[in-house]
Amino acid sequence: MAETKYSTSVIEHPPLQRWEPDRYRLPCASHLAIGVPAIDADHEELTDAHNALVSALAFGSDLSEYRRRFRGLIERARRHFIAEEGLMMAAGYPELAKHRAEHAKLVRDAEDFATSIDSRFDRDDCTAVAQFLKYWLLNHVERCDRRLGQYLLARA
Ligand SMILES: [Fe+2]
Ligand SMILES: [Fe+2]
Repeated sequence: MAETKYSTSVIEHPPLQRWEPDRYRLPCASHLAIGVPAIDADHEELTDAHNALVSALAFGSDLSEYRRRFRGLIERARRHFIAEEGLMMAAGYPELAKHRAEHAKLVRDAEDFATSIDSRFDRDDCTAVAQFLKYWLLNHVERCDRRLGQYLLARA
């Protein structure tokens, strides 16, 4: 039986599966805008970081570059969450605890994912990671941050 070989330094895709990066890219930042400039600017940075990560998942890319970008995105998200929680505290946002707990869970899940692919990267992880992060960012902005934006704008 032929043995399947996974590269440890270069990203490979399954031979018959076409990598379609456009499926995993986030839409332009204006699509995610919630109307609070400081938050929108951070979301734009996160969107760019995610899209750059998707590009780094191209066939034949350097796996260490991809790992570096993934860790960088998590760090960027962590800084954004701290800033967003500061805005919530300053405004007396009633859902601060719930929102903060969701931030903490997002970071934990992303770190777990990053750790698991640091130890073993399968070809299928390319799409799994891109899908996970896209859902992670879109879902949180639409469900939690938009609600926060409405609260902050109503108080402005
Ligand atoms: Fe948030
Ligand atoms: Fe946010």
